[in-house]
Amino acid sequence: MPKPHIPLEVLKAQVAACQACPLAAGRTQTVFGDGNPDARVLFIGEAPGKNEDLQGLPFVGKAGQNLNQLLEIAGLTREEVFIANVLKCRPPGNRDPRPEEIELCTPFLREQTRTINPEFIVTLGNFATKFVLKTEVGITRLHGTLQQAGRFKVFPIYHPAAAIYDRTKWLALENDFATLGELLRR
Ligand code: URA
Repeated sequence: MPKPHIPLEVLKAQVAACQACPLAAGRTQTVFGDGNPDARVLFIGEAPGKNEDLQGLPFVGKAGQNLNQLLEIAGLTREEVFIANVLKCRPPGNRDPRPEEIELCTPFLREQTRTINPEFIVTLGNFATKFVLKTEVGITRLHGTLQQAGRFKVFPIYHPAAAIYDRTKWLALENDFATLGELLRR
C-alpha cells in the first residue's frame, strides 16, 4: 500500500522542532517554504539566507526580488506556486550546504514534494538540481532543459542570486523563465 501523504502543517511542525544537525543552534527560525499547497509548480532553492532566517519565509531578500521579477515573465504569481529550499535552516555566513546537512534535511523536502504533488519542479541552482535529478551534471549545462524525475517534470534554472553580479546569467534566467511560461501554457 502506498504511504499516506503527511499534511504540510504536520511537516512544518516537524521542521520547526528539528535538531538533527548543528545548523539548528544557529538559526533564528526554520524556513519551511511558502505558497499554494496545491501548486502546479514547486520551486526549490538552496537554503535560507539572512533575511529568510529572520522572517521565516523563503526568498524574501535580494534573490527573492529577482525571483519575483522572473516569476512575472513566466506569468506566475508567488501565491499560485510553492517555494521551498533544500535546507530549512540558514548555513552560517551563507556557506554552501554540506553533504551531511543535505542528507539529514531532505527527507522533509521529499515529503513536502509528495504532499504538494506538483506537475513541475523548478530547481534553482546546482544544489536543488543535483538533489532532484541525482546527477553530477552542472546547472550550466542543464539550465533551460526539460527533464523528468519519476512522475515529475523537472526544469533546472540558474539560482536567482547568481544573477546579482552577472548580467549574462540574468539574460539566461529571463530566457529560461519565458520557456517555463511556454511549457506551462502547452
Ligand atoms: N536563496 C535560497 O536558495 N533560498 C532562499 O530562500 C533565499 C535565498
